[in-house]
Amino acid sequence: MIRFENVTKSYGKNVILRNLNFTINPGEFVVLIGPSGCGKTTTLKTINRLIEPDGGKIFIDEKDITKENPVELRRTIGYVIQQIGLFPNMTVEENIAIVPKLLKYPKEKWQGVVKELLELVGMPYEQNAHKYPSELSGGQQQRIGVLRALAASPPIVLMDEPFGALDPITRDTLQDEVRRIQKKLKKTIVFVTHDMDEALKMADVIVFMDSGKILQMASPEEMLRNPADPLIAEFMGKHMSNANMIFTAADFMKTRVTKVSRTTLTLQSIELMRNREVNSLLVINDDDTYFGSVSIEKLRSQGKPGKEIGDMVSDEAPVVNVKDDARETFDKLMTSPTGYVVVLNDDATVAGLITKTSMTKAMGEALWGEMSS
Ligand SMILES: Nc1ncnc2c1ncn2[C@@H]1O[C@H](COP(=O)(O)OP(=O)(O)O)[C@@H](O)[C@H]1O
Ligand SMILES: [Mg+2]
Repeated sequence: MIRFENVTKSYGKNVILRNLNFTINPGEFVVLIGPSGCGKTTTLKTINRLIEPDGGKIFIDEKDITKENPVELRRTIGYVIQQIGLFPNMTVEENIAIVPKLLKYPKEKWQGVVKELLELVGMPYEQNAHKYPSELSGGQQQRIGVLRALAASPPIVLMDEPFGALDPITRDTLQDEVRRIQKKLKKTIVFVTHDMDEALKMADVIVFMDSGKILQMASPEEMLRNPADPLIAEFMGKHMSNANMIFTAADFMKTRVTKVSRTTLTLQSIELMRNREVNSLLVINDDDTYFGSVSIEKLRSQGKPGKEIGDMVSDEAPVVNVKDDARETFDKLMTSPTGYVVVLNDDATVAGLITKTSMTKAMGEALWGEMSS
């Protein structure tokens, strides 16, 4: 855990950090964002003591970092910056192994680490370990920069606009890789960017700074829904107008759906449809998992007394998960032969149904608030 307590920093009369208070939990991916010059890099560098605050305290796991030896502190905190700074006259392997060697890991151990890390980013040891930085693409060099920061398995990694100089496609790939590695190795990452796309994609928590203050600290979803300041809304401009990205199938479904067991008979089923004023039924297994659906037309054409509904189901209705993206769900609804989409929970039980009516109603509510029905 990293905790800032009333941290301040000035250069002469310029106040750079104004009383920062926040906490970062272990394993969190925290992104610092804000306009250029707002103090992101300064904040980051106070964590590994490349910059010392004038006031306040920073704790890592409840230990005041000013009480630690800065060199040792930095060995437990990985650091990645935009100008990678690989040593040009050292191989990939030597570059990655710098800190493990400083820490006097035996050769088998640091070599094992190098192999594992290269594996992690799809750069096999045999083909890559002995290359020099100049033989690598910009994206590959930056990958090695990330691996070097991870080599002594620090629990915390600081990253300052690490992908700022890469082309968009390489950046996108590295973002995915870092997020995957972070989850896999359970690192705490503090990541600086001025790019809201990057922040929304990577962050568990976004810290939005302006003029050395925190304007808002929230999850990407929360920040999109409720930006605490006009400046934040401006940063998110295009995402706000495209707010459907935060909606899921669950937001558009109706949960009052008529479910029947596979053994329900034709006449009972027709009766049920009439009573509930629905024109299809969802059929479920004994363990409540979804089996299929039956429309009134199908029942009329195929049903006969004594016949079980389970023998008439079709799998024509598209099926989505509650957490699926609303836009994909919408596309499925538009092309659905049944005119509806079945929404399932993770355990394959029925969560609800999306019809054109439920979708329209939910969209109306999203635009104009709760509607009278
Ligand atoms: N060593 C320094 N001396 C004087 N001013 C500095 C120094 N380092 C940074 N600053 C100023 O502090 C402010 C914040 O810088 P920085 O943390 O690098 O911003 P960001 O990373 O958000 O772009 C800027 O106005 C910058 O000019
Ligand atoms: Mg900066």
